[in-house]
Amino acid sequence: MIGIRYPIIGAPMFLISYEELVVAVSQAGGLGTFPLPNFRSVEELAASLKRIRQQTENPIGVNIHLSGKFEWQEQLKLCLDAGVMFFLTSLGDPRLILDDVHRNGGKVFADVISLEHGVKAQDKGVDGVVAVASDAGGHAGTAPTIVLVPYLKARLGIPVVAAGGVSTGAQMAAAIALGASATVVGTRLIATHESRASHAYKEAVVSAGPDDIVCTDRITGNRANWLAKSIEKFEKRPEIGSKKWLELWSAGKSVAQTDSICPAASVIAAMVKEYSEVCASLGRTIR
Ligand SMILES: Cc1cc2nc3c(=O)[nH]c(=O)nc-3n(C[C@H](O)[C@H](O)[C@H](O)COP(=O)(O)O)c2cc1C
Repeated sequence: MIGIRYPIIGAPMFLISYEELVVAVSQAGGLGTFPLPNFRSVEELAASLKRIRQQTENPIGVNIHLSGKFEWQEQLKLCLDAGVMFFLTSLGDPRLILDDVHRNGGKVFADVISLEHGVKAQDKGVDGVVAVASDAGGHAGTAPTIVLVPYLKARLGIPVVAAGGVSTGAQMAAAIALGASATVVGTRLIATHESRASHAYKEAVVSAGPDDIVCTDRITGNRANWLAKSIEKFEKRPEIGSKKWLELWSAGKSVAQTDSICPAASVIAAMVKEYSEVCASLGRTIR
């Protein structure tokens, strides 16, 4: 549907996924993405898209915020001109961009956390949904991947992509077995050479276990997963654009499977290898 080799979407991550990670993931056969709010000006975005396109012709994607808080019209045009194939909407009405994206041959997916969200997005004409589960880094849903993906899959007629807790090939095999068409990988990619997380943040992700993650709406007003220690001193949300956001470290429960800081390409390669091994061995479970 979007021309990628493996069903792995590198998550758009605020202040983390920029051109280095996008290029690395797309070159490795996944879909590299970034959130448009990572750029404060259209000039910066244009320059970054140009550098990405000098390094890869493979499909790339963006997360676009249509809430009205950000100017998106010019950003959309730049992305379409750069051949962005995949638009993930997390806020606002996807119909605002559907016609332009489709005319360009691209696809629009919507982040959803519930069946109600999923049905609304489908009725508006999106090409697929990303099921954001309770274990995901960033804003999180309330149901775990193992429940949310088959729940949406059984009730929607469009592809469902699993987001939350997928860091390994075995987890990817589980998500695909549940009916997901692809997976979004965020937390695992924080701890890569190409992510723009600080070294301390990457190390904290590697050393954390699932009990070090706390889910709260205290910081952004919406449920989100955080490394508990990083949010201890924050009573409320920093201003938009504040440097304090760099001290708030979001990550999902799959810190449990994140055990080294390595190149993003090796994360993708390891997932693909383990996925194949797991699929082959599952066939031998019941005789
Ligand atoms: C640090 C961080 C920042 C994120 N920022 C965004 C964002 O700006 N836009 C978005 O759509 N999702 C964002 N997400 C959510 C991811 O796109 C994705 O849904 C999630 O990371 C998948 O779950 P996982 O972390 O368990 O792999 C963010 C996630 C993390 C960890």
